[in-house]
Amino acid sequence: MRQLSVEGFPTVEVEAGKRLVRAIEQDAGVDILHACGGNARCTTCRVEFVEGEPDRMTVAERQVLAAKGVSGVRLSCQIVCDHDMSVRAISRLTGSGRADPGGPPAPDITPPPEWIPKES
Ligand code: FES
Repeated sequence: MRQLSVEGFPTVEVEAGKRLVRAIEQDAGVDILHACGGNARCTTCRVEFVEGEPDRMTVAERQVLAAKGVSGVRLSCQIVCDHDMSVRAISRLTGSGRADPGGPPAPDITPPPEWIPKES
């Protein structure tokens, strides 16, 4: 098990290797958005890391963040809980004006992950 802390919510234990977006929603009980269903297309699943930012990322994450000109955040649909993490959920259904958070992300990272080092 790994510890997940979402700022403003109680720290929870999550299954090692679980997709972060699913852990935030299902284990921490936070209404994080995932408008594209966890496919690295929308960036609404973005989080800010307080501690434990992974030092690797998927090619899909790097590409969509670059395409949208977004920096300083990570995509929770492209991260697995393979160590303890502390994040801020900065993109939530509450206050978004959206009708729903988006389709449910699959258990495994989609598209199939190709890992690269995180740019520092
Ligand atoms: S990029 Fe759309 S849910 Fe992660």
